[in-house]
Amino acid sequence: MATQALTLSPPAAVATVAAKASHRADHALRLGPHPAHSPGQRIRVAVERLSFWYGAKQALKEVSLDIYANEVVAFIGPSGCGKTTLLRCLNRTNDIVPGARWEGQIRVDGTDIHATDVDPPLLRRRFGWIAQRPNPFAMSIRGNIAYGPRIHGLVASRAETDALVEHSLSAVGLWKEVRDRLDDSASALSIGQQQRLCIARALAISPDFLLMDEPCSALDPVATAVIENLIDDLKARYTIVVITHNLQQAARIAQRAAFFHLGELLEVGDVRDIFVTPKTRRCEDFVSGRYG
Ligand SMILES: Nc1ncnc2c1ncn2[C@@H]1O[C@H](COP(=O)(O)OP(=O)(O)O)[C@@H](O)[C@H]1O
Ligand SMILES: [Mg+2]
Repeated sequence: MATQALTLSPPAAVATVAAKASHRADHALRLGPHPAHSPGQRIRVAVERLSFWYGAKQALKEVSLDIYANEVVAFIGPSGCGKTTLLRCLNRTNDIVPGARWEGQIRVDGTDIHATDVDPPLLRRRFGWIAQRPNPFAMSIRGNIAYGPRIHGLVASRAETDALVEHSLSAVGLWKEVRDRLDDSASALSIGQQQRLCIARALAISPDFLLMDEPCSALDPVATAVIENLIDDLKARYTIVVITHNLQQAARIAQRAAFFHLGELLEVGDVRDIFVTPKTRRCEDFVSGRYG
């Protein structure tokens, strides 16, 4: 078996858990200072026996999962196993796929998101979406942040817009880097800065949740570390779901992980348990790098 060490750089590691099984003895998982979730923590999203089909293709099979307030939960598993599909079910962007059909229920803060009185655009606004590749609008840095709040009527004046632009860019650590060139095109920024801009753009419309679909897959290690630290900070205010192919990243940033396989949620729990004492053979093989 290939040696696999899951190590944590920032934020500082405080705990090292050595794998129990002998074949995983070289598998050291170092986890950050994130508290494990205690029972009774507020559930913000409750997914209950959710199945989802694209036409004849079933992408999710009776998935049940709770997402807690102010946690980072990582969705892990091989490609094509339904991670993005579930993320897109949460904000109902999958509704518009022709042939889409679902069974089961998703409640957000207790409300069934498919209830007839739920307005999909309003629901969607509660979820910031961060894509795999940074996708800034073809506008200025300022324009990228100001566009959404303007469309949604969240700002009434230039002064309010300026304040929101500064606030949003500061929240992602970008303000000092771009304050003197707010009218430059966003495409002039580095890829890592563009991804932070996209996160700032998402924050500007005051979401409750951030859905991140492999947010660092296009970034170099330095830009990745910046985003990982940012995710750690943002969980104080937001509830965050991150899909990642990078298991070390899941160990560094998430408190819980959910392992998907062929549309099923096979395991969900504290990242320590998922990585060190997985219950299913599939998950064990995946986290120990036997397949991906
Ligand atoms: N728009 C779509 N139409 C048809 N099939 C899709 C569509 N999007 C995803 N799928 C299929 O659904 C399954 C789950 O895909 P996805 O949720 O993207 O997986 P993951 O994010 O885990 O890689 C895959 O078999 C994929 O090919
Ligand atoms: Mg995906």
